[in-house]
Amino acid sequence: MEINVKIGELGKIKADAILLGIFEGVKKLQGDLADADKMLGGEISKLIQQGETKGKLSEVTVIHSLNKLPADKVAIVGLGKTQELTPDKIRIAIAETFNNLRKKGVRSIATTTLGAGVSGITVQTSVQTITEGAILGSYSFQKYITGGSEKNDIEQLIIVSQNKTAKTAIQHRINESKIMAEAVNLARDMVNEPSNYMTPTDMAAEAKKIAKEYGLLIEVLEREQMKKLGMGALLGVAQGSKHPPKFIVLKYKGRNSGTIDIALVGKGITFDSGGISLKPSENMGDMKSDMAGGASVIAAISAIARFNPEINVMSIVAATENLPSGTALKPADIVTAMNGKTIEIENTDAEGRLTLADAICYAKKQGAKRIVDVATLTGACVTALGEITTGAFTNNQALLDKVTAASSETGDKIWQMPMFEEYKAQYKSDVADMKNTGGRKGGAITAALFIGEFVENTPWVHLDIAGTAFPDKPKGYYAKGATGIPTRTLIRLVLSLAKTKRKNEN
Ligand code: BES
Ligand code: MN
Ligand code: ZN
Repeated sequence: MEINVKIGELGKIKADAILLGIFEGVKKLQGDLADADKMLGGEISKLIQQGETKGKLSEVTVIHSLNKLPADKVAIVGLGKTQELTPDKIRIAIAETFNNLRKKGVRSIATTTLGAGVSGITVQTSVQTITEGAILGSYSFQKYITGGSEKNDIEQLIIVSQNKTAKTAIQHRINESKIMAEAVNLARDMVNEPSNYMTPTDMAAEAKKIAKEYGLLIEVLEREQMKKLGMGALLGVAQGSKHPPKFIVLKYKGRNSGTIDIALVGKGITFDSGGISLKPSENMGDMKSDMAGGASVIAAISAIARFNPEINVMSIVAATENLPSGTALKPADIVTAMNGKTIEIENTDAEGRLTLADAICYAKKQGAKRIVDVATLTGACVTALGEITTGAFTNNQALLDKVTAASSETGDKIWQMPMFEEYKAQYKSDVADMKNTGGRKGGAITAALFIGEFVENTPWVHLDIAGTAFPDKPKGYYAKGATGIPTRTLIRLVLSLAKTKRKNEN
């Protein structure tokens, strides 16, 4: 989607549709809305009086301009109550409007800096949320529908401002927000692929393509190299599968030092059948999304490269399938992770923590100063927090506070869960250093503590996205299928850790 700023008046712009915002309960029209109403001979006032347009969040009214304006259509989107407006609500309203107008054949839309000046929302924030809402809301995965792709896309968005001096700053923010939203859609594309088109080999190929495009360093370790490094936990998961595992390492170097300031580690199970501890067949197909954490760290580092901040970042994905076969890992087997710790397999469906254990050992061996891991790790986290909120765990409150701050800017919702030592007793093994499950109770917590055994003292945040990565229902700026969460939060986090501050921040 091409997105540009134009200085002028919205009513005079030629586009398939102009888009105006309206707040709930507004009686007297002002600004662009009043201007458009005048040009349309009081048509908008009439709709409000008749109660058709109420201004409720995401309510869309579309009227034909009947040649009274250069644009063919006038769309009015509800922004809810004035005092309750948040940046995320603008994102949601824009996304739903774009999805609506896209289906009506609209290809170009002009709008203003909606919501700016209300509830502390700046012009820059408005521009950011409009851009993100437009790109995220227009997303659909139609690759495998014959003749389905790109039939319905909005090609152009013009953000109209009357402030000449702000033009460059607005265009700059549009470009930044585009990078953020495009990264999310990249992650969604990878996750929505079925597992026969997103094998570990395909995932490594995608990472290579991205590395080439954005100038990242890439290394893909093969099974033999994993063996040499002693990645017995990861290899245990991979041994049941015909498709070979791939250990994908992407590096972004933004400052002159060998130090890895932060490692982003993503779970990369391209299909999780459960292995010998086979999952029930109902909804098993959703487990093509078990590499969503991996997709998010690959997408995030691609965007980080485009921002070019002064920081060194490494993204790591231990990609493998989890399948049952004659060579598969079995309950009661014992594997040894890269750091020498032994793990008794109680349930082969608790495979994510095994692959993450070795990925984290690798990050530590590379000298990572901080680690954030992202994983569709536990059904227990879905039970605890549903599909709205990502579970967050940490051994370093300051780092988690930074993640939370980043997420409040992006609208990704996260909530901290406890990591009390007492839970560790649940995964004690009689025959090895630990077992890979901690029972039903507090399952998201014992999984996090298990990963923590490999992190040790490195500042670390674990994000369990089992509920938020691939929800059942579409919502706001997320169509059905993959959400790409928490890609934008990871990008924001890294930018906030980098020395150079963003320009045009206000
Ligand atoms: N990938 C699943 C977790 C999951 C469940 C993600 C639902 C998304 C939606 C993970 O590998 C898994 O199977 N976890 C088990 C762990 C259990 C065996 C200790 C679970 O949560 O049931
Ligand atoms: Mn599993
Ligand atoms: Zn899994």
